[in-house]
Amino acid sequence: MNMAVLNKKPADIISFILIPTYLLFLSSKVSFAQDSINQSQFVSEANTLVSKDGSFELGFFRPGNSNNRYLGIWYKNIPVKTIVWVANRLYPINDSSGLLMINSSGGSVVLMSQNKSAVVWSTSSQRQANNPLLQLLDSGNLVLTVTDEKDENLRISSWESFDYPTDTFLPGMKFGWDLKKGINRLFTAWKKPDDPSPGDFTHGLSEMGIHSYPEAYVWKGNKKFYRAGPWNGLRFSGSPDLKPNPVYDYNFVSNENEVYFTYTLKNKSLISIVVVNQTSHTRDRYTWIETEKVWRVYSSRPRDYCDNYGLCGANGNCVLAASPVCQCLKAFKPKSPELWSSMEWSQGCVRNKPLSCHTDGFVEFVDLKLPDTTYSWVNKSMSLEECRVKCLKNCSCMAYTNSDISGGGSGCAIWFGDLMDIRQFSAGGQNLYIRMSTSELLGVVCCVKFNYEEEKHGPKIKIAVSVAAALAVVSGTLLVGLFTYRIRTNLKVKKEPKGIISHQNNEGQKEDLELPFLDLSTIVGATDNFALNNKLGEGGFGPVHKGILEDGQEIAIKRLSRSSGQGLNEFKNEVRLIAKLQHRNLVKLVACCVQGEEKMLVYEYMPNKSLDSFIFDQTKSKLLDWSMRFNIICGIARGLQYLHQDSRLRIIHRDLKASNVLLDSEMNPKISDFGAARTFGGDQSEGNTKRVFGTYGYMAPEYALDGQFSTKSDVFSFGILLLEIISGKKNRGFFHPNHSHNLIGYAWILWNEGRPLELIDECLGQSSTLSEVLRCIHISLLCVQQCPEDRPSMSSVIVMLGSESALPHPRQPGFYLEKNSNEAHCFSSKQEPSSTNEITITLLEAR
Ligand SMILES: *[C@@H]1O[C@H](CO)[C@@H](O)[C@H](O)[C@H]1NC(C)=O
Ligand SMILES: *[C@@H]1O[C@H](CO)[C@@H](O)[C@H](O)[C@H]1NC(C)=O
Ligand SMILES: *[C@@H]1O[C@H](CO)[C@@H](O)[C@H](O)[C@H]1NC(C)=O
Repeated sequence: MNMAVLNKKPADIISFILIPTYLLFLSSKVSFAQDSINQSQFVSEANTLVSKDGSFELGFFRPGNSNNRYLGIWYKNIPVKTIVWVANRLYPINDSSGLLMINSSGGSVVLMSQNKSAVVWSTSSQRQANNPLLQLLDSGNLVLTVTDEKDENLRISSWESFDYPTDTFLPGMKFGWDLKKGINRLFTAWKKPDDPSPGDFTHGLSEMGIHSYPEAYVWKGNKKFYRAGPWNGLRFSGSPDLKPNPVYDYNFVSNENEVYFTYTLKNKSLISIVVVNQTSHTRDRYTWIETEKVWRVYSSRPRDYCDNYGLCGANGNCVLAASPVCQCLKAFKPKSPELWSSMEWSQGCVRNKPLSCHTDGFVEFVDLKLPDTTYSWVNKSMSLEECRVKCLKNCSCMAYTNSDISGGGSGCAIWFGDLMDIRQFSAGGQNLYIRMSTSELLGVVCCVKFNYEEEKHGPKIKIAVSVAAALAVVSGTLLVGLFTYRIRTNLKVKKEPKGIISHQNNEGQKEDLELPFLDLSTIVGATDNFALNNKLGEGGFGPVHKGILEDGQEIAIKRLSRSSGQGLNEFKNEVRLIAKLQHRNLVKLVACCVQGEEKMLVYEYMPNKSLDSFIFDQTKSKLLDWSMRFNIICGIARGLQYLHQDSRLRIIHRDLKASNVLLDSEMNPKISDFGAARTFGGDQSEGNTKRVFGTYGYMAPEYALDGQFSTKSDVFSFGILLLEIISGKKNRGFFHPNHSHNLIGYAWILWNEGRPLELIDECLGQSSTLSEVLRCIHISLLCVQQCPEDRPSMSSVIVMLGSESALPHPRQPGFYLEKNSNEAHCFSSKQEPSSTNEITITLLEAR
């Protein structure tokens, strides 16, 4: 804001002026009790132009102690001289003269220094114009209008000062682009309070590209200093405090002709302006306080430390309440830890784990200022889901969100490359979905929408932790004592369960096994000597019996067939390894027993038996609604993923099927028989086996035909299981009156005909969430694809189950024509079991 005392010269000082020939007819005695001049009048040192309502005045002024003269506009009705516009800010008149007029052709306004008769400043000229009229409007806009070439009664604006602002954003001005005129209205600070020439502080809307998402900036020189962020339908993303208020109304207009922000005052008797200030390095809104006759700052930008552009570098998040303020976004780490810890954050952050592109997912961050939109893309008509798909498809897309958050959210904005200048708000920010690698998402995402609460409450958590830590220090000894005591007591109880006798090794030393060994006599007692009515079923490698230990604990005992041919130590080592596989979706091995030829595994007992006893049973299947089934699906996926990837052993199950999924009392799924193939099936390495071990209807083609097994053959079995859980039908033994396909084939047909929902088990009725079911069908088809390479890993399956991102199109499944000669051939030399019971078989491949 520039308050200059006008240094008016008395009118008589300007006596004679060298006037260009075209002005010879002008009268120098013009009265300016008016708001406009035409071709035969001019504004000189002696007079001014006043807007109709008397609020603005145009004339010559000399700022501060400067000898330079400028033509400008100021508020006429307030006592503090406030210059809001300057015409010749670059070319001051340094003598005591000056004349503003319309040139003879009428197409432009020129400012002359009188005694040199030189043009100091001029508006862009139009060749010829009729009846030009220069007016100072009540808004403070100086406008040159001319009559339209075609319609004499129509006056059109050929130039206006609002299009060429200086440092002051007046009500009604447009902040931004006029794409037809090709102008961007930028506001540039005065260099000094007595020098209106442009400083290096500029405020305006960023450049418009074809796809760009314009945002408001304050630049210092050509560097970004403060970024207000893109317009999100309600406000600039970095200005949560821009809200409906008693002083002014605002609006953002974006169409093919114009993109601008504007505001108007609610009450015409109020005065409020926005000014860029070189000295304070701020862009301030002032309101005039009539009672005190002063300008008061209403709001100021940048408002705090986090408003400094890019303070935290790429992928950093500025959290004002945190200490230090700069934090890497979740899943990112400082690029240079040394610099970062010395509070030099400009290097920013890099990912903990690299992206894998097509299997990535997104994490929702809440209440952020959206990142710099320089490398962004917008489509105003796309939905958020389409946006996610679009982003996922392009490996350089890092984040997406709605481009407009008004009315519940619409449109799509996506970002490429590093995310710059993000800050955290506690409210009024925006949600941003940032791309993450599968491994970052793992364990957090399956079946539960990622909840980013800890980021939102980051500082709060920190405080809570430090308080807790302080408490711990104060009462340290006491707490530690208590803890040790508790742990010891628990261990005692766990280590010596009744009926379990610790095993003695050959040297007579007690082995420190995590897995207890049970005495055969104990097991014989628990199972009533393996009584038939205690038999639970027949798994791979032997029968399973229920047993009750002396203390009442229920157990399931698998008695391995005697022919495994494995040595005692080998067996013990394997069992010990398998005992270490602990996951809530794996049946827990609680003990084992080796005596003579007998080898037994003791598992926790699952009261609800196996999954097949529910899904394929007309009555019991009604007990499993969709949400339970979905929970079971996710649990199986997690258990399998653990076997494949997270456990040290990298176990391939090789016999995943509904009867190998047990259900605990809360219907949580637990995979059983894992590691069985590895331990008892002979072949222990991935790759190729001579012995095909598995179950008809669940085996992947490459495994059943060529003995090729891998985690992907388990994925195939998982896909079948998924179809069975959804449809309540067995893949093997599936019968359809109209064709000879198995369940996979039937699902494939329905999928291609766009009727996948017909696959759903009728008893699911209303309970199912169709989008979830559809997604599961889609995933199952991806799992049963013919080529192992096409099938997703279990990690990807988990991400797919838990997210809403787009899935690839499934290719043709394997084994979908069960009764087709081609595939029947594979089994032609073997005896197919006559029933459709799922009995694990071991086939010796003829080679
Ligand atoms: C505008 O402000 C004046 C002075 O504060 C007040 O008297 C008047 O009632 C206001 N008008 C409206 C429409 O609010
Ligand atoms: C924006 O999205 C809509 C809907 O998906 C589409 O029809 C349109 O072609 C898109 N526009 C551009 C420029 O991509
Ligand atoms: C991804 O987006 C970038 C930036 O818009 C573009 O240059 C690139 O061609 C896109 N890649 C694909 C595969 O669409």
